[in-house]
Amino acid sequence: MANEDDIHAAAEALREGRLAILPTETVYGLGADASNAEAVAAIFEAKGRPRFNPLIAHVADLTAARAIAHLDDRALSLAVAFWPGPLTLVAPYIGGEAVCDLARAGLDTVAVRVPAHPAARAVLAAAGRPVVAPSANRSGRPSPTNHADAVEETGDAVAIALDGGPCAMGLESTVIAVLPDAPLRLLRLGSIPREDVERIAGVRLAEAETDAKRTPGRLAAHYAPDAPVRLNAEGPRVGEVFLDFGPNPLALGEGPDIMNLSRVGDLKEAAANLFAMLRAADRRHPAGIAVAPIPNHGLGEAINDRLKRAAGFVG
Ligand code: TXA
Ligand code: MG
Repeated sequence: MANEDDIHAAAEALREGRLAILPTETVYGLGADASNAEAVAAIFEAKGRPRFNPLIAHVADLTAARAIAHLDDRALSLAVAFWPGPLTLVAPYIGGEAVCDLARAGLDTVAVRVPAHPAARAVLAAAGRPVVAPSANRSGRPSPTNHADAVEETGDAVAIALDGGPCAMGLESTVIAVLPDAPLRLLRLGSIPREDVERIAGVRLAEAETDAKRTPGRLAAHYAPDAPVRLNAEGPRVGEVFLDFGPNPLALGEGPDIMNLSRVGDLKEAAANLFAMLRAADRRHPAGIAVAPIPNHGLGEAINDRLKRAAGFVG
């Protein structure tokens, strides 16, 4: 686990324009100094990420967020309710060099979040500047939710990879656009269920516009393992690995080819296990990965969103 020396080494590497793998409570991130265009370019390079897809600026606290983003009253009430934590706000960019053009993909908005993981917070405080950090996977693949998976994906590109243990949430942050003269929009389902955001906001969230330029993260074929993914499966077919959910009425024995996202049917536990189990399944080079039905309420909506993309369906 990361100690104080590791934290300082990571902050130092970021300040010098190098990359660092950082644990967060959602997924592991591939971090760079947000103001350093060369370092940010190295992120796009390491991930094979299209440059029109902007990055999230991570900051230590609300004050630091307000230094880069215009947060209106709606945004502030969400920030107060959910930060530090898995909420990302897309708001007008204040201007200046703190989050470079490349990091924002040239948009006049910025995505900002205050992560809750103590190691991430310590690095941000020590770095003293916004750190952009997309999920540490190569583009299109499932996000890494533990240190080993992160190192396997993008470890070659970084100066240091901090180990913060397995991610508590396991799904990326929920992304909400809070822009002037526009309703609150849900840009990406994530670790905070839609209903929880709506309860604090006091309004229903509008859907993301389908215009890919305004909602760049909504690409199909995301979060995808190599093996084909089959959804709403009652059990495995020959050669498939099965990801079950809940108590199994067929009493299928668990083993390397049959895993359970949550034996007790807990969506939080399933979210935390999802990407690591998809990866574990994929490592067995199966004919396919079959996944049991997941209820579509609460966190289940985000889990099903990721599964549909893993299966190659447009969200
Ligand atoms: O949980 C998370 O959010 C993780 C951890 C590392 O913090 N990060 C993460 O970053 O998931 P990434 O780059 O994989 O996803 C960022 C999402 C993308 O869907 C991107 O399109 C969207 O945020 N985004 C970023 N800036 C935006 C902007 N200005 N307008 C609209 N969408 C934006
Ligand atoms: Mg990602």
